[in-house]
Amino acid sequence: MLLQVLGTAAGGGLPQWNCACPGCAGARAHPHRRRRHASLALRADEGRWYLVNATPDIGDQIEDSHALRPGPGPRESPVAGVILTDAELDHTLGIARLREADGFDILATGPVRDALLGRLRLGEILAPYTRIEWRELGHEAEPLVKSGTVEIDAVPVSAKRPRYATGAGSNERTWVVALRLRETTTGRSLIYAPALARWTDEFQEAVEEADCVILDGTFWDDYEPARTSISAKTATGMGHLPIVGPNGTARRLSGLDARCLYTHLNNTNPLADPDAPQHALLGEWGLEVAADRMVIEL
Ligand code: MLT
Ligand code: MN
Ligand code: ZN
Repeated sequence: MLLQVLGTAAGGGLPQWNCACPGCAGARAHPHRRRRHASLALRADEGRWYLVNATPDIGDQIEDSHALRPGPGPRESPVAGVILTDAELDHTLGIARLREADGFDILATGPVRDALLGRLRLGEILAPYTRIEWRELGHEAEPLVKSGTVEIDAVPVSAKRPRYATGAGSNERTWVVALRLRETTTGRSLIYAPALARWTDEFQEAVEEADCVILDGTFWDDYEPARTSISAKTATGMGHLPIVGPNGTARRLSGLDARCLYTHLNNTNPLADPDAPQHALLGEWGLEVAADRMVIEL
């Protein structure tokens, strides 16, 4: 299984257009600190790739990745579709930018599909431009494409819905999911969870079986949102378990055999700066921070 990291930042990106915080100012001054919105490209088969989440940076992310460029035909693209972990705007706004395609797949859970169709009205808006094939993302592993060797299923994470969908739909825990991607020829698997509100037994089981885990690294600690004045809520209250502290994820990840990397870093997170001292601490626990353009082969 071959994956390419297309971005590692939380909503807003790094720098965020209207933000002059130290993280964003630092990223403006030092281009190596820039991070695009969190996303992956996953090779489903020879010349067929799926994007995991469709971010506002999707055009640049496709253009900058050699494997995702069009050709040899004038309108032939290796991008076959999008897999969604949730319905948040930083993970879905890029869908409209794919409208030049003849058609593409979207794999999403029921609540996510209903929010995109009912609240964002993406179905009505995009129907005159392109053909979207909606596919249900469920708890049953199924081949991503018939000809390929990658299987996919979703591990429910939480009922946290986007602000634009307040009051919508049911309280199902499939508003936010972790993706499980498995290479059937080797049995090796990866868990991708850019938003993790709670560490459930089911999630623990999933990561114990995985060879690689790419996890929500939005905030370093639970009080970071209040300390940096971006929200009165805790990180956990915003649907993102922090990395350190009593309910921190680092402690849990460091007990696993899997290769573990953090993604979806907010611009307030000290780890967003590759030169920050917190990286050494993370290294001592055997953990990493994902970088834009990183290639992962499983
Ligand atoms: C999140 O990750 O919690 C959301 O993307 C926040 C947002 O964009 O409003
Ligand atoms: Mn987000
Ligand atoms: Zn900022």
